[in-house]
Amino acid sequence: MPQDDQRNFRNALGSFATGVTIATTKDGDGNPIGVTASSFNSVSVDPPLVLWSLAKNSHSRAAFCQSGHFAVHVLSASQENLSNRFARSGEDKFSDVAWSPGKLDSPVLDEHAALFQCRTRHQYEGGDHIILVGEVVEYETREEAPLLFHGGSYAERRPRPKNDSGETVDTEHGRFTDDFLFYLISRAHFQTSRPTREKLAELGSSMEEYLTLAVLSMEAPLTRNEIGQRLNHTGHAPAPRLLDYMTRKKLIREVDRVKGFDLEEEGRKLFVETLAFGKAFEADLADHFTAAELAETKQVLRRIIELSGEDVPINWRARED
Ligand SMILES: Cc1cc2nc3c(=O)[nH]c(=O)nc-3n(C[C@H](O)[C@H](O)[C@H](O)COP(=O)(O)O)c2cc1C
Repeated sequence: MPQDDQRNFRNALGSFATGVTIATTKDGDGNPIGVTASSFNSVSVDPPLVLWSLAKNSHSRAAFCQSGHFAVHVLSASQENLSNRFARSGEDKFSDVAWSPGKLDSPVLDEHAALFQCRTRHQYEGGDHIILVGEVVEYETREEAPLLFHGGSYAERRPRPKNDSGETVDTEHGRFTDDFLFYLISRAHFQTSRPTREKLAELGSSMEEYLTLAVLSMEAPLTRNEIGQRLNHTGHAPAPRLLDYMTRKKLIREVDRVKGFDLEEEGRKLFVETLAFGKAFEADLADHFTAAELAETKQVLRRIIELSGEDVPINWRARED
């Protein structure tokens, strides 16, 4: 087939989305061998058979064809780097990778989304590839989002939204379902801000004080009015008395009557401590999502903020100092 046609053919095959696996075995000297493979597929349930195909020009060919066993590791979304490493020919792919010999002696990597340990049952000629069929002697699955491959790029799974056209709000009876976006946003806000509110109470502070410090950390000096305007939408704008109280507490100071207030060292410290607390809380939450889910969530929230607050000032202007 001419080069151009080969490229087109590869591209056409790439339109079939797959997972990504690393297949491992041992060579004649007992060294661990492994290759990244997306050609993995199921064959039979009884007997339990799986297959994958290995390029004939692969360095690992002799090992896979002679060992009599292999293990297939389905990779999780966080294992893109490992996939790339095992896709580079001939490198020392196993250095710094945690593994141990499996049931049939194929190397078993500690990290994976699923594992199939196989005895090699058949090998078929498949043009420039060899099709290896293995009988699964042991398998394991974990609750991990899989790494995907499509159109020559890595991808992540995006679950399809539930196709639920039912009404989320019943205004006649005053009821709503947990699919009601307004409820979800409010509840997420209450729950995610609760630890911060508790932390502030512990520090002898309040949400009003914290938001005032946050606004001044972005831009200062600001007058009483300007602080109020910037925080009106939160329902936590500081009462004039609070700014005086914060001044007495040395959290803020009035730079001058016209220009307004700026942060004091104590105020900056309180703000930074609470901010760090919020950041740690976010990191714990973020661990449960893929990078793509987080990016998309942020995008959606930004749009909601934009659409629901045309009259709300944009506070997030980094200070120069
Ligand atoms: C996502 C992805 C999927 C791959 N799938 C296969 C495959 O199914 N079969 C194969 O032989 N090579 C596949 N490769 C290429 C091999 O991993 C690569 O050629 C590897 O360098 C072979 O290693 P070796 O020459 O050290 O044996 C894939 C590579 C990537 C990045």
